[in-house]
Amino acid sequence: MGVPPPSSTTAREPVIEVRSVVQKFGPQTVLNGLDFTVHAGDTFIIMGGSGCGKSSLLKLLIGARKPTEGSIRVFGEEITTMGSSDLERIRRRYGMLFQSGALLQSLTIEENVALPLVEHTGLPRDLVDTVVKMKLEQVGLTGHGHKKPAQISGGMKKRAALARALALDPSLLFSDEPTAGLDPIMTAVVDDLTQKLTLKIGATAVVVTHDMASVFRIGTQIIMLGTGERQGKIVAQGTPEEIRANPDPVVQQFIRGEIAPGGDAAAGDLYRETLLSSSP
Ligand SMILES: Nc1ncnc2c1ncn2[C@@H]1O[C@H](COP(=O)(O)OP(=O)(O)O)[C@@H](O)[C@H]1O
Ligand SMILES: [Mg+2]
Repeated sequence: MGVPPPSSTTAREPVIEVRSVVQKFGPQTVLNGLDFTVHAGDTFIIMGGSGCGKSSLLKLLIGARKPTEGSIRVFGEEITTMGSSDLERIRRRYGMLFQSGALLQSLTIEENVALPLVEHTGLPRDLVDTVVKMKLEQVGLTGHGHKKPAQISGGMKKRAALARALALDPSLLFSDEPTAGLDPIMTAVVDDLTQKLTLKIGATAVVVTHDMASVFRIGTQIIMLGTGERQGKIVAQGTPEEIRANPDPVVQQFIRGEIAPGGDAAAGDLYRETLLSSSP
């Protein structure tokens, strides 16, 4: 809030180019021919009902998995055919804020934020400490660095995780449901921080969320993935204004928070089926 959104999307350079991407798990086609481009400076939102393939798509974008078909270019380089050392080079420019990437419980907040700096830079200890102090200050956690994750609130943990994700000043921030489990006020705080900090370091963000308040607060470009008959397809795409004005009843239902067809239960069953059918 108070931060003007980037003006035009078309004039800015493409950072991620997804072309004809298909992801299959056994008999199930989860992503079914996706095409989209993320431009520099965007806060690009991926939304859609549970099981529509948001996390699967994010895994492809970070190179944690190869798609069944299609092309993904990041910073102009094809990542789907890349070896692990090239991928590692690309991923050094990534910040990642995932539910699974939680803080290490045995380390203090400071030590958690220092991790990527120690692992990926040759910075001397005193410089690492200075950067950690700066990052903690940016997320409003000055004075809490010596605490363990168990000693701070859920919202503070998310902010600490954000400080860690931004420790290396990434060009691209990926987050998967960064505000899951937070109340609306903490959600707004984490959203604001994500937006301010990415703008400050000139980063591009790709955010998976089903929180509509977040979508319209921070999104500059949005895609919505379908479920049911439209599983794995983009059912709506555009700016927040364009999404709000989208006449598709499924889109309207979703942004008004009504339950979309093909929700959790169905997705869970399919997942179990796929797991069972692939076990020996
Ligand atoms: N490793 C996997 N093996 C088999 N099926 C999977 C795997 N990962 C995800 N799926 C299936 O792909 C679909 C999309 O999952 P996911 O990407 O996690 O959806 P979302 O994040 O939108 O809720 C689900 O039906 C899920 O069961
Ligand atoms: Mg998910």
